[in-house]
Amino acid sequence: MEIFLEEKKSKNLKTEAVVFGIFEDSDFSKKENFPNFKKEAERAKFKGNLGESFFYSEKLFEPKKQVLFVGLGKKKDYGSQQARNSAALAVRKLQERNILSAEFWLHPEEAKDKKIEIISAITEGLILTNTKYQRFITDKEKISKGIEEFFICVKKEDKDFEKGLKIGEILSEAVLFARDLITSPSNEITPQYLAEEALSLSKAYGFKAKIMDEKECEKMGMGAFLAVAKGSQNKPRFIHLSYKAKGAKKTIGFVGKGLTFDSGGISLKPAEGMGAMKSDMSGAAAVLGAMKALGELKPKVNIEMVIAACENMPSGSAMRPGAIIKSMSGKTIEVQNTDAEGRLTLADALTYIQKQNVDEVIDLATLTGACMIALGTDIAGIMGNDNDFVDYLLKISQKSGDALWQLPLESNYIRFIKSPIADVCNISRVRWGGAITAGLFLKFFVENKIKWAHIDIAGPAYRDDDLNENHRAEGAGFGVRLLAKYALENS
Ligand code: BES
Ligand code: ZN
Ligand code: ZN
Repeated sequence: MEIFLEEKKSKNLKTEAVVFGIFEDSDFSKKENFPNFKKEAERAKFKGNLGESFFYSEKLFEPKKQVLFVGLGKKKDYGSQQARNSAALAVRKLQERNILSAEFWLHPEEAKDKKIEIISAITEGLILTNTKYQRFITDKEKISKGIEEFFICVKKEDKDFEKGLKIGEILSEAVLFARDLITSPSNEITPQYLAEEALSLSKAYGFKAKIMDEKECEKMGMGAFLAVAKGSQNKPRFIHLSYKAKGAKKTIGFVGKGLTFDSGGISLKPAEGMGAMKSDMSGAAAVLGAMKALGELKPKVNIEMVIAACENMPSGSAMRPGAIIKSMSGKTIEVQNTDAEGRLTLADALTYIQKQNVDEVIDLATLTGACMIALGTDIAGIMGNDNDFVDYLLKISQKSGDALWQLPLESNYIRFIKSPIADVCNISRVRWGGAITAGLFLKFFVENKIKWAHIDIAGPAYRDDDLNENHRAEGAGFGVRLLAKYALENS
């Protein structure tokens, strides 16, 4: 899809449809140009709420075009999330009618302030809804092209509109890149594949790259990471990218869980739904996606990005339940369930990144089914050792669209992950509060002086339903925009 900013409206544009955003609290009787608006809106039960839309019954303008009205909700609530979702809804509705080109007349109040943010969000809503993962569909007739041209009609004299479009395009490309990695199957996306993607990013944007193989990881003492990797023929890769900016005042660490497939290992998962575990590298995809966006946007802040990429497989060489392993930190871990593998790989990744002079660390991981049970498919859980840091990320998430909810790192629950014969156990003795005990396990490997936030994205990372406006049966690219925006705010 190509998006253009355009001052001319309708008459001079060769589009098939015009989209209007309507606020819930706008005066419907004043739609002089649409004599039947009130009647038709009533029939469609359209009140201008977010999520509502209807096509006007007749074509209007010259040349004749279809007219789509989309609800924007209340003026006072309008922000990037509303902009993103209403644009996404417009794309779905236009696609239902196989419309290939459209123009969007921005309501004058829609982009009144926060122009960059609003135009960026609209761009994201358009591109991300219009793009579908179709790489493995060989029947050309079944491949949908989506909308080809979209004109956003605004007064162009304001450079902020251009800027918003550019940022929106960069963020969307980065999210699509992450989605692609997540949705692509694990027979293609191996640890080595992720390493090669990281290398391509380093070439494209001048990042420093370090890829470590099994031997090098062994030298570093990464016993926890390697124990998980042991069962697979596809060898592990420890991936480290650095972005250094002139005049940067801070260094942020990004850590992504990079299980390119999680079968559970010897503690094998049930067959049903196991295929979705190709998405257990969604944290890795998010940090790579964020690096791609930041390579383009070049914020004035240093970033260290780390992924401990491997596969969790059962085999004669796989780690056994009951094993006691030694992590890079020197701490020992009793492994009572080989399916709680993410925290083992992250323990070493966290130890490694804390040696890179970072001021703060954010890890993203599809860590627990428990978090998915607690918060559902649209919201990720966030925990951390510094409340101001967590609050700041919560604030950013409201703009980026990656919904977060804080869970407490209740220190009383540490008793559940104690091991009688090692420093810590990789699972809890009780069923309850699994997202929190996983967070506490990670905290065990984090030094107090470093601000740390852990985001459990098990729910929103990947979905096989078709409900949300912004994505469908594929990887979501959750977290890419959150991390990119966080880095930009620290610029
Ligand atoms: N990758 C899974 C968590 C997961 C589950 C992500 C569902 C996305 C959707 C993780 O490695 C895992 O298996 N966790 C176990 C931990 C348990 C054994 C303590 C879980 O949540 O069941
Ligand atoms: Zn697992
Ligand atoms: Zn896992």
